[in-house]
Amino acid sequence: MNDCATADQVRRLFTKRGDSQYGGEAVSQLEHGLQAAAMAEQEQASAQLIAAALLHDVGHLLHVLPDDAPDRGVDDMHEELGADWLASRFPPAVLEPVRMHVAAKRYLCAAEPAYRQSLSPPSELSLQLQGGPMSDKECDSFRASPFFDDAIRLRRWDDLAKDPEMQTPPLEHFLEYVRDAMAPSPSTTTL
Ligand SMILES: [Fe+2]
Repeated sequence: MNDCATADQVRRLFTKRGDSQYGGEAVSQLEHGLQAAAMAEQEQASAQLIAAALLHDVGHLLHVLPDDAPDRGVDDMHEELGADWLASRFPPAVLEPVRMHVAAKRYLCAAEPAYRQSLSPPSELSLQLQGGPMSDKECDSFRASPFFDDAIRLRRWDDLAKDPEMQTPPLEHFLEYVRDAMAPSPSTTTL
């Protein structure tokens, strides 16, 4: 799949589903993704990580569960759904932080006691459905991932991207990073 086709798909997904509420928070799915991507850009993250920030909740745009699924005791597994969708379109540097962003919350709840206190009520509710804080063994294995640092950075942007007053560049601005993020790494380039 070429980069224009994927950027078009991303645009369509956000146009069709992006105005749905972001899981009990005061922002829409589109606003949430744009805010996370804007914070990644401000911190001069790579194009792959900015794309991951924009697309970290793409799984929410792919399923048909209601916005309040966690209130009904349902874990929508959106991180797996999203990463599977991204897998045929992007390199691991995009899809792995997305796959890991829920686990990163479970990790931070175990590693930083103050972190859990900062979670919003919907995020605390979904934490219970997602398995609660990690065990020591789970933390060790999570920390060993080559994408650990990126997953933690993405998680912190995710947690902050819930500000109804925040102004961001439009989706088109970030689609440039989506196109750049699809570029094959040098080791996979064919001559
Ligand atoms: Fe999110």
